[in-house]
Amino acid sequence: MPELNPLGRVYVAGHRGLVGSAIVRRLRSAGFTNILTATRDQLDLRDQAAVNYWFRANRPEHVFLVAGTVGGILANSTRPAEFLYDNMMIHATVVHASHLFNVRRLLYLGSSCIYPRACPQPMKEEHLLTGLLESTNEPYAVAKIAGIKLCHAYRKQYGCDFISAMPTNLYGPNDNFDLQSSHVLPAMIRKFHDARLAGKKKVVIWGTGSPRREFLHVDDLADACVFLMERYDDAGHINVGTGEDLSILELAQMVRDVVHPEAELVFDRSKPDGTPRKLLDVSRLRGLGWRHRIELRNGIAATYEWFVNSEAETAASASAVRLTA
Ligand SMILES: NC(=O)c1ccc[n+]([C@@H]2O[C@H](COP(=O)([O-])OP(=O)(O)OC[C@H]3O[C@@H](n4cnc5c(N)ncnc54)[C@H](OP(=O)(O)O)[C@@H]3O)[C@@H](O)[C@H]2O)c1
Repeated sequence: MPELNPLGRVYVAGHRGLVGSAIVRRLRSAGFTNILTATRDQLDLRDQAAVNYWFRANRPEHVFLVAGTVGGILANSTRPAEFLYDNMMIHATVVHASHLFNVRRLLYLGSSCIYPRACPQPMKEEHLLTGLLESTNEPYAVAKIAGIKLCHAYRKQYGCDFISAMPTNLYGPNDNFDLQSSHVLPAMIRKFHDARLAGKKKVVIWGTGSPRREFLHVDDLADACVFLMERYDDAGHINVGTGEDLSILELAQMVRDVVHPEAELVFDRSKPDGTPRKLLDVSRLRGLGWRHRIELRNGIAATYEWFVNSEAETAASASAVRLTA
């Protein structure tokens, strides 16, 4: 298996995102000194010619492919074309360039939401493509499944050492807290925080509160990604999660207790619930010796602290701009 060398050239595609920034933190803490990155303005990953040019110039040896257009139910339902086009293009260009420029190993991330809507629980790796997809994120799921199949196909046809992992719902620093496009956990943090600042007690949560979900802190995911890059060598994707779930109601209570303990929960049942349950079977990953470390309540508290600091920094830089204007 190609060794992940702290002096080697490691490209993190999507390094400013939730996952990419956590992988960069994880690599830096392990002493990696040659981490390659490019912002979206420097390199549009949907552009094959630009991606080839960048790979020719930078010659990455290992690639973490964690760029993409990502979002919750609202963003998926209002921007289906972007979710399908952007993700298909980004995955295809980076996988293809990694083949052309002899990348030693690439790790691609699928997502637990691309298993069938009525998937038996907990979801095992072999359940992929065994049933209809959840309609609220079908364009995203189709693109993500194509990414996994792309890694298989390049491995089969060209012998490329490309692997895929299937993470559960993630959260942590650098998450997207914009209510128009965020996932459920950061959206809850934002709603409870805004309600607390506005002195409001009622906080509206989408759906019935009954769906069950699993959450993994992104620092744990980053650790798993590095672990898999070093030790996983199989054509099939591997689930990455905690193997534990809770209801949206329980999650909302946990976030409320951290952010705004006086708040009262109101469920808007006119809004879609999404898949009834999503829990990964993580026995394959556990069998390799990896387990998550950050428990959900602690992870939410740490994420909220990060969020408050980041809001304060944004406000401070906005007022500095006003003062110098
Ligand atoms: N978040 C989750 O809960 C979750 C769960 C399972 C799997 N995943 C997978 O993990 C991966 C990363 O997700 P994430 O949550 O970290 O997403 P994210 O926070 O939205 O970050 C996405 C990153 O991709 C970059 N990007 C998007 N379009 C690009 C383009 N055209 N050219 C160059 N860069 C582009 C973004 O660049 P900018 O910084 O310039 O915007 C950003 O750095 C995705 O493949 C996703 O499917 C995520």
